[in-house]
Amino acid sequence: EIIDIIAREVLDSRGNPTVQVDIYLDSGVMGRATVPSGASTGTREALELRDGDKKRYFGKGVQKAIDNIINEIAPNIIGMESLDQEGIDRFLIELDGTENKSKLGANAILAVSMAVCKASAEEVGLPLYRYLGGTNAKVLPVPMMNIINGGIHADNNLDIQEFMIVPAGFVKFSQALRAGVEVFHSLKGILKKKRLNTAVGDEGGFSPMLEKNEDAIKLIIDAIKEAGYEPGKDIYIALDPAASEFFAEGFYTVEGKKIDSKDMVDYYEALVDKYPIISIEDGMSEADWEGWELISQRLKNKIQIVADDLVVTNPKIIKEAMKRGIANSILIKLNQIGTVSETLEAIELTKNNKYTAVVSHRSGETEDTIIADLSVSCNTGFIKTGSLSRGERIAKYNRLLQIEEELNDVAQFKGLSAFYNLGF
Ligand code: PGA
Ligand code: ZN
Repeated sequence: EIIDIIAREVLDSRGNPTVQVDIYLDSGVMGRATVPSGASTGTREALELRDGDKKRYFGKGVQKAIDNIINEIAPNIIGMESLDQEGIDRFLIELDGTENKSKLGANAILAVSMAVCKASAEEVGLPLYRYLGGTNAKVLPVPMMNIINGGIHADNNLDIQEFMIVPAGFVKFSQALRAGVEVFHSLKGILKKKRLNTAVGDEGGFSPMLEKNEDAIKLIIDAIKEAGYEPGKDIYIALDPAASEFFAEGFYTVEGKKIDSKDMVDYYEALVDKYPIISIEDGMSEADWEGWELISQRLKNKIQIVADDLVVTNPKIIKEAMKRGIANSILIKLNQIGTVSETLEAIELTKNNKYTAVVSHRSGETEDTIIADLSVSCNTGFIKTGSLSRGERIAKYNRLLQIEEELNDVAQFKGLSAFYNLGF
């Protein structure tokens, strides 16, 4: 039973305020959760409530969300049974009453929902992945590691937001992680030699100034080889262009040129044919559903096509995309939808329709590691949690190492076969 709730304003990895909640149960245990924050957000995401008072944190304070937890949420859920996650989440959704959680704020609601979940796991004495996923939770995710940052996550000139490595050719998570780390360090050495900047962007990837998007891919291929691995066998490449950010009035602006949807798909197909690219997320804009249909028709059988901004972890929108044959994979972000239960529903929907699910961080993160446990709990097979630097990214990798050790012989790492719907 919930006996007390404390809510406070803390900071995320970009130094912006965010919401942290502690939930105390009558058994004496406490669950603490902190919510992340995106930059290249989808327009249909649940609303992140910010104060807008320019004199405090340039308007980014979250005191209203905190007040809503203390004055609206706490008095109503104190006394409730914390193990009834779904009941509590449903109550929070109804208490808010809006389609996009704009009354109380999705940051307020999610912080409470996550803290309820963590307190309950403590109460029953189970690790979070086991509490959420039951006895079948055992698949360690293939990490999609964002080692070159562009778009609005960095101050360089790359249009594509994320250039990721996918170490799928290994039999254990810890081996895949090690390979990723070695490639990251090799890439740093290569950049230094070329006198390119080795400062990192929001997700801990390097953010060098480069002439073309393709140059970033070439550098990564070199780094994979230099670290002693084989591109396209041990390690693959994934992209998240976050194309909504460079789409306006029907056109994509790529390397200074305005191109239409068909040219955009041609551009990706040429890259896919030339490099060992295994996944592209948000290749098209959320405002270009026809473009999404086109990229899906052309590339769905070759690579993982991940929908993020388009469907924003919202079961209703995911269903719409599925009906139109769009994508074959869904990005899963707790704070796009705003409760743990709805996130679990989105994952289930995804799996039931033979789509893969990629559990994801946000570009503004915290030390909270719930997504590591979430990915294992649902055996999703994939996690996207940034590069191999910055503590808030590493915290998730370290949590996954602990889980792999704890599961021991039971732990599975699917590697390439995690892309089961591509026929691997
Ligand atoms: P965001 O970016 O957290 O800034 O939205 C992550 C992504 O686009 O996947
Ligand atoms: Zn994305």
